[in-house]
Amino acid sequence: MLEKAVSLRSMNTFGLEAKAALYFRIHQKEELSSLWKTNLLQLASPLVLGGGSNIVFKNDYHGLVLHNCLPGREVVSEDPQSVRVRFGAGESWHDCVMFAVSHGWGGVENLSLIPGTIGAAPIQNIGAYGAELKDVFDSLEAFDLESGEVRIFDKDACAFGYRDSYFKREGKGRYCILSVVLKLSKQPVLNISYGDIQATLSEMGIKHPGVKDVSAAVIQIRQSKLPDPKELGNCGSFFKNPMIPRAQYEALKASYPDLKSFPAEGDRVKIPAAWLIEQDGWKGKRIGNTGSHARQALVLVNYGGATGEEVANLADRIAGSVMMRFGVALEREVNILG
Ligand code: EPU
Repeated sequence: MLEKAVSLRSMNTFGLEAKAALYFRIHQKEELSSLWKTNLLQLASPLVLGGGSNIVFKNDYHGLVLHNCLPGREVVSEDPQSVRVRFGAGESWHDCVMFAVSHGWGGVENLSLIPGTIGAAPIQNIGAYGAELKDVFDSLEAFDLESGEVRIFDKDACAFGYRDSYFKREGKGRYCILSVVLKLSKQPVLNISYGDIQATLSEMGIKHPGVKDVSAAVIQIRQSKLPDPKELGNCGSFFKNPMIPRAQYEALKASYPDLKSFPAEGDRVKIPAAWLIEQDGWKGKRIGNTGSHARQALVLVNYGGATGEEVANLADRIAGSVMMRFGVALEREVNILG
């Protein structure tokens, strides 16, 4: 049903007030074809909203918000090694992880507790603790909001990169993802080398972990570091970890020996944005109703009543001051609208 002037406050994890001029909750993919036939999709600048965990509304949205609530979980094929599962795009990502983990299927356990829907996961190729969506991605089905056709995208067509895909570049704003097929392993190879996973498993007294244990450890780590959006509005990491030329990294490392790094493509080095922000004095700093979180500098939070404008201003100030101090550009991971 098409609704008017709907508040989006409960539909974005920053908890920002913004109204959608028009709003439609999609429960069946056929509804999109029907809307397309009325010309509404062509005329009303549709914005597809999933879990709202990567978006900052600076203003009301003057077009049509399509709230993607498409359900579904079905095994589409399996063999002794793997299983391919199709999930409706509106399913919560974490519920999909729990579904996989409960069957002992591996590949997404390191991505436990990431907010948002599975339909949004390919857009920025979500990642955490040494794993990325692309590692388990098989294909997706998407509705082309321009042509009204349904298209299948395989992994190559998605052109995944670090927090990046075709859907953030050439395909931006053009598609509504309908379903995502993941290829999960029935003989999981665990990846526990990243960060605190191994140490957390040891603290939990687990010597021979399975996918359930790794998932539980990741949940524990995330809960100890990252603010729960239900308690303190946020969008997870606000910026990407920048990839800088090796020579620039060496020069920074000479001045700051504790600077960490992660491998990146070519002759570039990925460095932690959280470290740059913390070194620059922003960690735990509150400005008005927003600020950089005290336990994770990369996470900007809403202390209550923040506006999108305030959050965007803070992000600009942080990026500007990091640039002045380190000569490193911070690219936003979060979408700012309006
Ligand atoms: N660090 C600081 N100060 C802080 C926090 C971290 O200096 O306040 C430094 C430490 O040196 C630490 C390093 O930054 O070793 C990395 O920190 P962390 O492991 O917490 O991860 P991150 O690089 O800040 C990335 C992802 C997260 C993901 C974690 C864990 C990006 C933009 N973010 O954060 O993803 O959960 O790794 O794998 O790549 C998200 O994208 O929304 C997100 C939360």
